[in-house]
Amino acid sequence: MITEITAAELDPERFVAEQAARIQAAVGGGTAINALSGGVDSSVVTMIGHRALGPRLRTVFVDNGLMREGEPEQVVGMFRRLGVEIEVVDARAEFLAALAGLTDPEQKREAVTQTFYTRVFGRLVRESGARFLLQGTILTDVDETVAGIKRQHNVFEQLGIDPQAAFGYRILEPLVQLRKDAVRTVGRSLGLPESMFARIPFPGPALAARIIGEVTAERLAAVRRATTIVERALGGLGAFQYLAVLHEDRVTGMRDGRRDFGQQIEVRCWDSVDGRRATPTRVPFETLESLAAEILRDVPGVVSVTYNIAAKPPSTIEAV
Ligand code: XMP
Repeated sequence: MITEITAAELDPERFVAEQAARIQAAVGGGTAINALSGGVDSSVVTMIGHRALGPRLRTVFVDNGLMREGEPEQVVGMFRRLGVEIEVVDARAEFLAALAGLTDPEQKREAVTQTFYTRVFGRLVRESGARFLLQGTILTDVDETVAGIKRQHNVFEQLGIDPQAAFGYRILEPLVQLRKDAVRTVGRSLGLPESMFARIPFPGPALAARIIGEVTAERLAAVRRATTIVERALGGLGAFQYLAVLHEDRVTGMRDGRRDFGQQIEVRCWDSVDGRRATPTRVPFETLESLAAEILRDVPGVVSVTYNIAAKPPSTIEAV
C-alpha cells in the first residue's frame, strides 16, 4: 500500500531531501541510470537523482528521430543550464528501421515501445552495469496499472529482465507517492523552468502518431515542419492541444500551372480539460488561413490543408 502525499500537505524541499537521502542509502557507492524524455515526471526524477548521486547517475536521452524540431537540443540545454549533463543516444536509424513497412497504427505504436525498451534502453541498462534504475512512476500510473486501464512503466517485463535472475537489480521510484500536481510543485522547487510545465501534451510514439501510413524519414520531415508551424500559429489560443497530421491519401492540386497529385496535412486543435473528451477549438478563420498558407509554402509536396471539426468521441486527439 502506497501512502499518498497530496499537493496540499507536500513540503517540496523536505520531500526532495528525503528522497535524495533514500536514493543515496539505496545506491551507496554504486551507480544508477535513468531515461529522460523531457516530460515533467522524468525531469523531476533526473533532478532529484542528480542531487543525490551527482555523476554516479547516468541520464540518457534517447533520440528516436520522432521528436519535434529542436527537441533533443532544448531538453539537453535546459538541464545543462541547471548544471546536469545529459547523454544523448542517437537511435534514429534503429527506430526508422523498426517502423519501416508498418502501416497499422497499433503495430507502429508497438514498434516504438519495443524499440525503446527491449532494444535501445534495455541495451544501455545492461551495458551500463548500473544496479539501480530510477523511474518517474507516479501514483496515477500505479492506480491505472492495478485497475487494468493501461500498464505503465512495467520496466522489468518490458526490458526482458527477470528480477529474480538479475539479482540485486532494483528500481527506485521517488515520485510514487505523488500525483501530477504535487510533482509539478516539486519540479518548481527544484528550479525547473515554468515553460516546462506549460507544455502541451505530446504522445509517447511522438510524431509517429501523426503520420497515417508508413513512417519514413521524408514523411517525418514533412509532419515535423508542419508541427512547428501549427504550434507557433495556435500557441496563443489557450487550447488543450494542437497538432498536424500527415495523411496517406493524395489529392489532386496544382503547382506552377501543372497538376500535382500531392500530400494532405490535417490540422487539429482541441479544447479539453483532461483529454478524455475534447471539442475542436473555434480558431479564428484568419488564423487558419495564414496557417494554411504557411504550410503550403514551407512543407514540400503539400497541396491540401484541412481543419478537423469532429469532437472526441468518436474522434480521438491523435490520428493514429
Ligand atoms: P487520444 O488520441 O487517445 O489521446 O485521444 C489522448 C491524450 O493522450 C495522448 N496520447 C498518448 N500519450 N502515449 C502517451 O504518452 C501514447 O501512446 C499516447 N497516445 C495518445 C494524446 O496526445 C492526448 O493528449
